Amino acid sequence: MKRTLIAGLCALILGAVPAGAQWGPRTIPEPTDGLKDAYKDYFKIGVAVNNRNVADPDQIKVVLREFNSITAENAMKPQPTEPRKGEFNWEDADKIANFCREHGIKMRGHTLMWHSQIGTWMYQDEKGNLLPKEEFYANMKHHIQAIVNRYKDVVYCWDVVNEAVADSPVYPGRPELRNSPMYQIAGEEFIYKAFEYAHEADPDALLFYNDYNDAEPAKSQRIYNLVKRMKDAGVPVDGIGMQAHYNVYGPTMEEVDNAIKLYSTVVKHIHLTELDIRVNEDMGGGLRFNRGAANIADWEKTLQQDQYVNLFKVLRKHKDVIDCVTFWNVSDKDSWLGTNNYPLLFDENYKPKQAYLAVKGFDPKMDNFVIKEDFKPSELNQPGQEYPMVNSQGFARFKVNAPRAKSVIVSLGLGGSGGTVLHKAEDGSWMGTTGGPMDEGFHYYHLTIDGGVFNDPGTHNYYGSTRWESGIEIPAHDADFYAMKNVPHGKVQQVLFWSNSTNQNRVAWVYTPPQYDQSKKKYPVLYLQHGWGENEYAWWNQGHANLIMDNLIAAGKIEPFIIVMTYGMTNEGFRPGQMPRPAARPEGAPAGGPGRPGAAPAGAPGARPAAAPGGQQARPRGGMGMMMNNGFEAVLCDELVPYIDANFRTIAKKDSRAMAGLSMGGMETHTITLARPEMFGWYGLLSGGTYNPDEVKDTGVKGIFVGCGSKEGPDQIRKAAADLQAAGFNAKGYVSEGTAHEFLTWRRCLYEMAPMLFKK
Ligand code: XIL
Repeated sequence: MKRTLIAGLCALILGAVPAGAQWGPRTIPEPTDGLKDAYKDYFKIGVAVNNRNVADPDQIKVVLREFNSITAENAMKPQPTEPRKGEFNWEDADKIANFCREHGIKMRGHTLMWHSQIGTWMYQDEKGNLLPKEEFYANMKHHIQAIVNRYKDVVYCWDVVNEAVADSPVYPGRPELRNSPMYQIAGEEFIYKAFEYAHEADPDALLFYNDYNDAEPAKSQRIYNLVKRMKDAGVPVDGIGMQAHYNVYGPTMEEVDNAIKLYSTVVKHIHLTELDIRVNEDMGGGLRFNRGAANIADWEKTLQQDQYVNLFKVLRKHKDVIDCVTFWNVSDKDSWLGTNNYPLLFDENYKPKQAYLAVKGFDPKMDNFVIKEDFKPSELNQPGQEYPMVNSQGFARFKVNAPRAKSVIVSLGLGGSGGTVLHKAEDGSWMGTTGGPMDEGFHYYHLTIDGGVFNDPGTHNYYGSTRWESGIEIPAHDADFYAMKNVPHGKVQQVLFWSNSTNQNRVAWVYTPPQYDQSKKKYPVLYLQHGWGENEYAWWNQGHANLIMDNLIAAGKIEPFIIVMTYGMTNEGFRPGQMPRPAARPEGAPAGGPGRPGAAPAGAPGARPAAAPGGQQARPRGGMGMMMNNGFEAVLCDELVPYIDANFRTIAKKDSRAMAGLSMGGMETHTITLARPEMFGWYGLLSGGTYNPDEVKDTGVKGIFVGCGSKEGPDQIRKAAADLQAAGFNAKGYVSEGTAHEFLTWRRCLYEMAPMLFKK
């Protein structure tokens, strides 16, 4: 909701969702190409299909766009193809094979010999007694050869034997293989025979041994042992199929990496044959519906995306030995696990998930990127805290102590990734590094631990997103302009002023320049507003407005002025997620205004007015004017400005009074400056929209500043500044390079705006 609201506001303010990664659109447009295209230099991308998938035009579209290898989910298994001895049923398998033939797609054949989905006639008589070995082998041979022969034009590889290795734990002295009826009849030899029969029927097909829990260290060793014995015995086995029924908590990527390395010492071909990643703790080949995960939270989606992204990174690293990665089903709707497990890259409506984009949109350069190990504690850490750390390339590294947690996610990350998932380190703490360099400057973040939201105890807190958040600072190349230096410093002091309209004391922070206390001089005043989720602390706490001013003044670049920062009531008139309604102003309310302190009428005690009393008739113009409904105009113009003029040495005149704001504070600035043209002579919108010449033509404005980050649609800023200049206004447009809707943009904007303000 929060992201949607902010994205909506940005879109309203800037006319477009910012191009920056932070608040990308949540709905993913229909892809024009597929996973198979993104991975064409790596391996085939396959999918297990049912009959509907190859009959329904919409599903066919997805299958053909995304995949270049197909497995029949069930249709080629022993029982479906030969339910009774000698009675073959080819209908379903043929449908899928013909679809593949028609579209020139080669198939993985799955599976010739399995203890499950197999007619009992294969290994026992009508009384239930196990067959003699010779009879069992004869059954196996005619079945395997019939099916291999039938599809040899379209099937390029077969999972010959499925799931024959025992699950963990296997106690010392016990067999390493599953105690299936086939094993009971023939021991390990039945596996060898199955491969020999298949090879006889199609010497060109690649033959695989396929199993689950394929990355679990103990079981992967047993799988390796089996295949090694087969190789040593001269059995025609070409590859190992890792089913890859994983979940968001495991296996670890180290385990996957180790398993692939181990398998690649015995076979030349490794396929992931049945990939899916459940959002719960179930794993493996057994069908255990988990119905507990129906409403998938964002943090679970992040865990899943992280697991998929990291898995594909490992797979790309091993592209020499991995030649096909098959998803077990097209979409969650088809999944053998049910939609509740949310296991695939396409949701139950066949729409790609964010994780799909992340898997597809990998950056090959990042696969071999070497992160410099020059991490230092972030400058915003609490005293003595080592983490979070930042390095010279802009990566951030986090460490969190949460010994019993199952998952820890940092809300900072790249692109639509939704954050950085931490992993358990050897010392039991959770650690992780962002997937790429972050934008320079300040970022808010928090931790999500097992779904609960917490601040990082390593850092100081900064009010944003309507709560105190953790903060991290990626050192900016131009950080000098807001650095705390040995120059004369002004003061930031808290003032409490009584507000009649809201019937309460309100807070403002007032920056007075160095020398203010020593002189008798009067100063101009800038009223500087924060954005939607922030409050009156933001501009000096994370914005460093005071340090920016001190440095500018010390460098002789500006005439000193006062800055007043108060809460813009951005979450007072309406709750987050509710879009504000147009202001309704009482007819004939008495006019307040500068120089007339006390002119504003008292609000009803205890009541929190939805509309601003006092002042002239509102003159909302266009979309942004319509947004303000929170009474802030009255507080600012009729209460705070008179208070400041009465209590500080200000030049209490329009031309010495400016208003500026970031994001929603820009909207407030836009609305209020236009509604009260007699009050403010200078306007500034920082990532907060634009003015057009027409709306300011009668205001008598002295100067207008518009700015934003290069990642948030800067063309509109450039155009607005040019239009204003062409219409004869004193206007400046500024674009902060390499930044998005964040505080480095606004620090820079203040630095660029300050020198133009209050110039005669
Ligand atoms: C599953 C199918 O997806 C289900 O439709 C069927 O009911 C049971 O089998 N390991 C395998 C696959 O090798 O053949 C299984 O497929 C999933 C586990």
